[in-house]
Amino acid sequence: MINVLFVCLGNICRSPLAEGTFRDLIEKKGLSAKIACDSAGTHGYHIGSLPDRRSRRVAADYGIQLTHQARKLSSDDFANFDYIIAMDESNLEYIQTQSYRSTGFYPEEGRVFLYRDFDEQADSSHVPDPYYDDITAFENVYQIVLRCGEIFLEYLIKEHHL
Ligand code: 4NP
Repeated sequence: MINVLFVCLGNICRSPLAEGTFRDLIEKKGLSAKIACDSAGTHGYHIGSLPDRRSRRVAADYGIQLTHQARKLSSDDFANFDYIIAMDESNLEYIQTQSYRSTGFYPEEGRVFLYRDFDEQADSSHVPDPYYDDITAFENVYQIVLRCGEIFLEYLIKEHHL
């Protein structure tokens, strides 16, 4: 099993939407037995909460139900996940630092990515934080994580000969 972890700050807006969208893509490709995904936050403000209602609303519009409960990135995640995907540079920096603190090593090349590195239409390096914005910002996040997910899934298929 290839395990993928999506990470944002609060684990209630972007990363649960990235997780739900990516799981849907995995299912549609018939790869659920080969690839699994989860999400986590760099901070613990919302531990145990369902995703923000606006993320759930947008996901539901595309037939995706988000049932994840927010959790904080843990040191076990570095052993349990093959890929850790950051929504923005600040998440990426946190992941690198926590990896060093937890394991004594920075993640090896090809294990941690900025999700938008997979976005062929990227006008920015990060998935914008929609928390203080309106529903259209959440719709925009959905379109971004869908585009990134499609390309990232193709990358995994190639890389692992799936
Ligand atoms: P997320 O968005 O990182 O995409 O889940 C946020 C969620 C909560 C907060 C900020 C961003 N907050 O400040 O509580």
